[in-house]
Amino acid sequence: MRMESIISVLLSGLAGLCVFLFILNRYAILMRDSRYKTPLVLLLFVVIPGGLAWAGWVLPAAGWMGVPAGIILLCLMGECRRLWIRRQCKGSPPVDSIPHQVGLFRPFTTTDAVVHRYEISLPSWQGPAFRIVHLSDLHVNPKVPAEYFRNVLSVAEDAQADYAFMTGDFVTKAEALPELEQVLRPVARRSTFAVLGNHDYWAGADKVRSVIRNAGVTLLRNETLRLDLEGHEILLTGWDYPWGERPADFPDTKGQGLHLVLSHTPDNIYRLSRASVHGVFSGHYHAGQARIPWLGPVVIPSLYGRRFDHGHFVVHGTHLFVASGVGAANPPVRIYCQPDIFIVDITGYSTVGQGAAQPSKQGEHL
Ligand SMILES: [Fe+2]
Repeated sequence: MRMESIISVLLSGLAGLCVFLFILNRYAILMRDSRYKTPLVLLLFVVIPGGLAWAGWVLPAAGWMGVPAGIILLCLMGECRRLWIRRQCKGSPPVDSIPHQVGLFRPFTTTDAVVHRYEISLPSWQGPAFRIVHLSDLHVNPKVPAEYFRNVLSVAEDAQADYAFMTGDFVTKAEALPELEQVLRPVARRSTFAVLGNHDYWAGADKVRSVIRNAGVTLLRNETLRLDLEGHEILLTGWDYPWGERPADFPDTKGQGLHLVLSHTPDNIYRLSRASVHGVFSGHYHAGQARIPWLGPVVIPSLYGRRFDHGHFVVHGTHLFVASGVGAANPPVRIYCQPDIFIVDITGYSTVGQGAAQPSKQGEHL
C-alpha cells in the first residue's frame, strides 16, 4: 500500500468523523428517544467516516484529497469561530467550587456533585441582594441510588436561597416517576419554580407535571409570574420552547423590572437576549456528560455546538447560567464531567459592594 493511499484513507476518515460529529451534535442527538435512535447513530458512525475512508481508498488520491482536506479546514474554521464567540461571551467564573475538580484517575463522576457559587451585579435591580439555587436535569433513575438525589436536594435546601429554580429533565423515563415523587418531597418547603425538559415531554408531560405539582413546585408553561421581594418586583418566565405547545413570540419586557427566565435549553439565549431579559437559567447539555480532560465535551446537543457548554456567559447583556445538572441520561453515567448545582447571588444598584448573603452549608461535600 502506497504512502499516498494511507494518507488519503486517514484524511478521509478524519473528515468523515468531523461530518459525523457535526450531524450528531446538531441533529441526531436532538431526536426523540426511541429504540431506533442508538442504531441510527451507530449506523451514521459507520457509514459516514467509513464511507469517506472507503472513498479515500478507491479514488485517485491526487484528485480526491482536496475534498477531505476542505472538510477538515471548514471544521477547523468553525471551531475557531466558536472559540472566538465563546471568548466574547464568557462570564465570570464561580467564586467557590466545592469540592474541587476530580482527578485524572477517577474518570467516573456520576455522583461526584459539586456546588458552584456565582456572584453577579445587576445595576438595573433596585431591590435587596438575593440568592437563587439552580438545579437542572435530575434525570431521576432507579439505577442511581435515591440517596444521591436526596443529598443533593438537601444541600440545595440548606443554601438558604430566596428562590429555587429547576430547569427540566426530572426523569429520563416514566418508570422513574414514583422515585421522583419521593425525591422531590423536601423541595416543597421553599419557593421553587420549574420548567419541563425534553425528556419530561418524551416520558409523558402530564404525568411528570402531576408529580412536580404534587410536590409543591410551581411549574411554568410559557407563562410569566410577578414575584415580590421586599416590595420589589421580579418577573419570572418559564419557557418550554422548542418542546410542548408552540408559544407566541417571547414578550419584550424592557423597562418592566428585573426579568429572569427558566429555559431548559440554552439555545434560546439569542431570542431571550433580544427581549431584554436579564438572566437565563438552563441545563440540557449535561456539560457533555462525557468530557476529554483539557479538551472538553465531544457531544453537546446544541445548534451552537460547544459554544455555551457549561458555566456563566453574558450574551448581549443577558446573563446565561448553564448548569451541568444533577443526573445523567442514556446511559446514566458521567465521565470526567461532574454533576453540579449553582448558587447565584445577585446584587443590584443599591446593594453593590455590600456583598451577597453568606452561604450556610454550600461548601459541604455532596
Ligand atoms: Fe437532560
